[in-house]
Amino acid sequence: MRTVRIARPDDLDAFRRAARGLIAIGAAPETVSWQEGEEIALLFGDPVPDDAAAPPLSVPKRFHALAEPVICHRDPERFALLYTTLWQLEHGRRTLLQDPTHPLVRRLERMAGAVDRDEHRMTAFLRFRRIESDGAERFVAWFEPEHHILRRAAPFFIGRFAAMRWSILTPDGSLHWDAGTLDIGAGMRRDDAPDEDALEEAWRRYYAATFNPARANPAMMRAEMPKRYWRNLPEAVLIPELLDGAPARTRAMIAASAEAPRKAIPAPGPHEPGPAGTLAGLASDIAACRRCPLHGPATQPVLGEGPPDAPVVFVGEQPGDQEDLAGRVFVGPAGQLLDRALAEAGIDRARIYVTNAVKHFKYQVRGKRRIHQRPDSGEVEACRWWVERELALLRPRLAVALGATAARALSGHTGSLSALRGRPLRFRDDLPGLVTIHPSYLLRLPDEIAREVEHRRFVAELSQAAALVPEIRRG
Ligand code: URA
Repeated sequence: MRTVRIARPDDLDAFRRAARGLIAIGAAPETVSWQEGEEIALLFGDPVPDDAAAPPLSVPKRFHALAEPVICHRDPERFALLYTTLWQLEHGRRTLLQDPTHPLVRRLERMAGAVDRDEHRMTAFLRFRRIESDGAERFVAWFEPEHHILRRAAPFFIGRFAAMRWSILTPDGSLHWDAGTLDIGAGMRRDDAPDEDALEEAWRRYYAATFNPARANPAMMRAEMPKRYWRNLPEAVLIPELLDGAPARTRAMIAASAEAPRKAIPAPGPHEPGPAGTLAGLASDIAACRRCPLHGPATQPVLGEGPPDAPVVFVGEQPGDQEDLAGRVFVGPAGQLLDRALAEAGIDRARIYVTNAVKHFKYQVRGKRRIHQRPDSGEVEACRWWVERELALLRPRLAVALGATAARALSGHTGSLSALRGRPLRFRDDLPGLVTIHPSYLLRLPDEIAREVEHRRFVAELSQAAALVPEIRRG
């Protein structure tokens, strides 16, 4: 029996080096014992070979994609599971990872998903408190991750808060960022983190003011935020009280926002029909559309993008300046924000279909700039003709409306977005749906705290789409 010790629990390189050496000498998985942590006693057994002389392994890309999150899982068997997989891949089972029903593959997939979810929760539910340290401002957060995700999550926080000084303390280790350098330190105790700061009260007031009773879903909140995350949130103390009042506030909101009467859709203007029953046919029909005046000033209609069998369709408002020029949906600033939020919610954009409620860019020229103008109800109604055909061809299991225009096109609801936001509902034709904000709303928020809070809410609402249809998850 050989014992391999991996000193740092998420050290994929150390695992790879050891595994390469073991494969090279033909050490079967059942002859290897994997341990983690620093060496505390002399271990007896056969020596572990040095990988230096071992030939490189040629491993499918999927193995790397799985190993990267799985190594961060807290399960002590993860090294043995990865090594067994590697061994099988090297011994004739090259297609093992293509079999999602194989117990080993299923277990690794589940572990990878758990690590991704834990990292998502860390990015969504971590709360910084402001302190003075060495005469300068520093933001400190306490978090209790379920898995060894600290190093994996570091790039997210560095990217988001690059210009700030911050520390993230966890029982396993800590990150300290000084607006340019990252230090990784030892694990800490909860008492090492500040309990309350001056921002906290403002944050709670903001949370209470923006809390939407109609979207409150205690079961989902509990599933998304197990106690370990929950107890560290400053707003947690408010939730029971806000939830108690939720049913009455929801009834009042629904009564106040009676649905607007539905207008009949005008017949399409004359045009050359494209090949029926296909997205390509729909595209050529839309290119000839004269049902509203927006086609005139726009460069081109911008059509949806994504796999035709995507289980989830995301619907935005209308193309912006860059989309109009590029002829592609969500490629400008709002698109970049959407991409980031989708990634934070663990959603793979390549697995969803993204389109708009209105297919042409509506704008006003000011100087050299083309300034976005919101489409009016007539334009939304006119384009609904196309959105409904697009949805009929795609037949998604879920549609996500990004913002009020999309919500109106999909549901006919003309009231405030907050009455619909963040809870499962049904659009026209009984299509399951979710409503969230449009990413450009975040771009317009001037206040940094409000922007951060709303961004997290947006990501949490996108995560609901992934919870309802897990096939759109990354990985
Ligand atoms: N906003 C949208 O709603 N759609 C786009 O394609 C770009 C910005």
